Amino acid sequence: MKVLVTGSSGLIGSEAAEHFDRQGHEVVGVDNNMRRVFFGAAGDTLWNLERLKGATKRFTHAALDIRDRAGIEELFRAHRFDLIVHCAAQPSHDKAREIPLLDFEVNALGTVNLLEATRQYSPEAVFVFMSTNKVYGDAPNEIPLKEMEKRYDFARAEDFAGIDESCRIDQTLHSLFGASKAAADLIAQEYGRYFNMKVGVFRGGCLTGPAHSGVQLHGFLSYLVKVALNGGKYSVFGYKGKQVRDNIHSHDVVCAIEEFAANPRPGEVYNLGGGRANSISMLEAIELIEQMTGRKLDWQYVDQARKGDHICYISNLGRLQRHYPSWKITRGLDVILDEIIAAQRAQLAQATAG
Ligand SMILES: NC(=O)c1ccc[n+]([C@@H]2O[C@H](COP(=O)([O-])OP(=O)(O)OC[C@H]3O[C@@H](n4cnc5c(N)ncnc54)[C@H](O)[C@@H]3O)[C@@H](O)[C@H]2O)c1
Repeated sequence: MKVLVTGSSGLIGSEAAEHFDRQGHEVVGVDNNMRRVFFGAAGDTLWNLERLKGATKRFTHAALDIRDRAGIEELFRAHRFDLIVHCAAQPSHDKAREIPLLDFEVNALGTVNLLEATRQYSPEAVFVFMSTNKVYGDAPNEIPLKEMEKRYDFARAEDFAGIDESCRIDQTLHSLFGASKAAADLIAQEYGRYFNMKVGVFRGGCLTGPAHSGVQLHGFLSYLVKVALNGGKYSVFGYKGKQVRDNIHSHDVVCAIEEFAANPRPGEVYNLGGGRANSISMLEAIELIEQMTGRKLDWQYVDQARKGDHICYISNLGRLQRHYPSWKITRGLDVILDEIIAAQRAQLAQATAG
């Protein structure tokens, strides 16, 4: 196959590029290191691009901006793709309010540029769009909760498995990021349903792994480990630190993409997170990371929740597992954190040596 991966220097894009290259496919990566523009030096992804070049055989990279319609068209004229894995994004809920136009251009316009280029030049290709659970806005917060010692949880038995794809996406508070991703999510579904293209939409929970360039505004486990190892102060915003997130390793994300690519269902939408087994609250995550690193985290509680933030979010993985029964979560929280800690210790050692 010829595979296009956008956002190929980022967490999910790099995992996808490496995965498909390892299987002998030809992978073209598109990434202009815009994560550095959004988050400054700590968000720079060039280290990951270099790592990727070393780890792959046939991978080629183009520092192209997905907003550049003419550039994207030229790329699609030069290659006939079989699979497009679209991961390039402005990924932060909070950052978007400072850069509403840039956020919308990258997330919404960039996505339609890629969908339309696919329709024109590679209409038979499978197109996977990485969406987000923030398309549900704060609607998940309407589910009755119970407060426990270190976390919130769903109060009713029928909610135990988590939030499924029937959760409404309109008339809720999204953040501008949630709204730009919802626009992209809908247009991607439309290319699937209206044009019958092989488009799949994955609404991510917390996607994580060792290749994340974690920053305060995006990549919470990665950033939490970074602060535990490097020092500095971590801030927990609201909900008494009992807010719950479900975490999924980038490898398991890419395996879901691969399953969809092998048997695509046009216009389908899937929630994709770690599920209940990989869910953790802020308080629990701090405790676990302190145990695993042997270091005390310097953190403070800020008694104001982030606007539109979820209180308890666990992805219901039922639809994905029904449609793709061989897909499952293969990496638990311990393995995920082990890998993140090892990667960041290695980076720290390298920086100290340099
Ligand atoms: N990480 C998460 O917790 C999470 C959760 C839900 C959804 N998602 C979605 O999954 C996708 C991948 O997320 P990630 O964690 O790998 O993010 P990431 O920031 O690690 O990777 C995104 C990459 O896209 C690149 N990029 C940004 N704008 C670009 C542009 N205009 N042109 C070309 N490249 C550009 C960045 O430089 C970066 O390397 C995103 O769509 C994100 O919204 C992520």
